[in-house]
Amino acid sequence: MKSSALVLLPLLGCSHAEPAPTAEASPTANAIASFETVRAVLQSPRCVNCHPQGDQPLQGDEGRIHGQFVVRGPEGRGAPGLHCATCHRQANPPASYGAHMPPGVSTGWRLPPPEHKMVFANLSSSVLCAQLKDPKQNGGKTLAELVHHVSSDPLVLWAWSPGYGRAPVPARGVHARLKGVGRRGRSVPSSPYGAA
Ligand code: HEC
Ligand code: HEC
Repeated sequence: MKSSALVLLPLLGCSHAEPAPTAEASPTANAIASFETVRAVLQSPRCVNCHPQGDQPLQGDEGRIHGQFVVRGPEGRGAPGLHCATCHRQANPPASYGAHMPPGVSTGWRLPPPEHKMVFANLSSSVLCAQLKDPKQNGGKTLAELVHHVSSDPLVLWAWSPGYGRAPVPARGVHARLKGVGRRGRSVPSSPYGAA
């Protein structure tokens, strides 16, 4: 899926973000600069609403606190008695239901568990990048597993098909920003973004 390659590639860039002792500072600066485009995806409303600070999911493009006193709960699936699955089913409701319906995915709608919350909201690129690569914070994932997750997890893919009345992750905006970064002469790999 092309759109998920958008996320995948700069994650690899992020893996080279540590300064090598002999290298100049610029490769690190470049990796962080291209990671800015990943940050735009991670902090877009569709992703960040499930990766909030604190223990309540967010809603809408403005990221308002989720209604109905919904909280993360012990496994990320909500408080006992008010699980996400009470309202969020296995797929998005049909468009005929209109806007503001609870979206759904086949693997079960939820937040990351309290042990590794994977906060994306309000973090700088360097902090986000470090968090993604740290197995203690990312749920014990190697970089390869992380890339696999980002390219194939139904929760991530949902963000490109979020259902009626919701804007998907702004892939085109990211593409344009990337080109802008490229024009300023930084090393930004471009091919996987071509058809975004
Ligand atoms: C419905 C909520 C939801 C949405 C929407 C969502 N995520 Fe997640 N995300 C999760 C959960 C739950 C986990 C923890 C998965 C686990 O531990 O198995 C997670 C974990 C992650 C991780 C860490 C790796 C991992 O497997 O734990 C990354 C990276 C990630 N998400 C990226 C994204 C991106 C990028 C988007 C938007 C394109 C997104 N997520 C949208 C719920 C969501
Ligand atoms: C009582 C019903 C109910 C429960 C329980 C519930 N939700 Fe929701 N949720 C909704 C509704 C309705 C919407 C759509 C709101 C809208 O679009 O204005 C929604 C929207 C969302 C969104 C926003 C999607 C987006 O990007 O626009 C997220 C994220 C979310 N819920 C996460 C969760 C999580 C995680 C849980 C469990 C911890 C949960 N919800 C439990 C009803 C519920």
